[in-house]
Amino acid sequence: MKFFVDTADTVAIRELADLGMADGVTTNPSLILKSGRNILEVTKEICDIIDGPVSAEVVATEAPAMIAEGLKLAKIAPNIAVKVPLTWDGLTACKALASEGHMVNVTLCFSAAQAILAAKAGATFVSPFLGRLDDINLDGVQLIEDIRTIYDNYDFQTQILAASIRSVNHITDVARIGADVITAPPAVIKAMAAHPLTDKGLDQFLKDWARTGQSIG
Ligand code: E4P
Repeated sequence: MKFFVDTADTVAIRELADLGMADGVTTNPSLILKSGRNILEVTKEICDIIDGPVSAEVVATEAPAMIAEGLKLAKIAPNIAVKVPLTWDGLTACKALASEGHMVNVTLCFSAAQAILAAKAGATFVSPFLGRLDDINLDGVQLIEDIRTIYDNYDFQTQILAASIRSVNHITDVARIGADVITAPPAVIKAMAAHPLTDKGLDQFLKDWARTGQSIG
C-alpha cells in the first residue's frame, strides 16, 4: 500500500518523506489556499522533495481548457499527476492527457459507476472520497470495496486512491479491502503510531528502569 500525503505544507511533506512515509502527494485548490503559496511554486517545491506522483488539480471546467491547464501543470516536473474532476469534461481531459502519456488522477469520485468511467478513460488513479460520503451518512468504506471488486473483475489497471481520509480506522479499513493508495493529512498518518497501551507500557518500563538504578552506555 502506498501512502500519499494530502497537503501542500512542504515542512510536513519533508518530515514524512524523510521517514519513508510519503510515496506521493495530493493537493487540491483548497489545500493550495491553505498553504498561502503560488500553485506553480509550491508544486515545484513538492516535486523536488518527492520522487513519486504529485497530484496538481486543474480548475477549468471545460475539457479543452482543462487539457491546457493539465499540460501546463505537467510541465512542472515529470512526476506530476494531473488531477481532474469526475465530470464528463474531466473524463474527456483524462483520456486526452493519459493518451499523451501523462499520469491522471480523477478526483471527486463518489460512486462505483463513476469509478468505472475513470478506468475506461485511462486514469492512473481514481480518488473516491470516503470522509465526504461518511459526512452525509453514506458508506465510504463500502464504496472502496465495491470499486476493488469491479476493478478486479475486469482487471482494470487504474489504482484506487482512497481519499478524504479522516481517521486511522479509515486507513486500516481500506488497507484490508486492498486500496492501492491512501492519501491522508499528515496528522492522520502520524496518529497511526498512537496507542494508549503503548503509552501505558512505556510509562511502566521507564518507571521500572529507573528503579534498577542502571544506565545504558
Ligand atoms: C484528495 O485528493 C483530496 O485532496 C482530499 O483527500 C479531500 O479531503 P477532504 O474531504 O478532507 O477535503
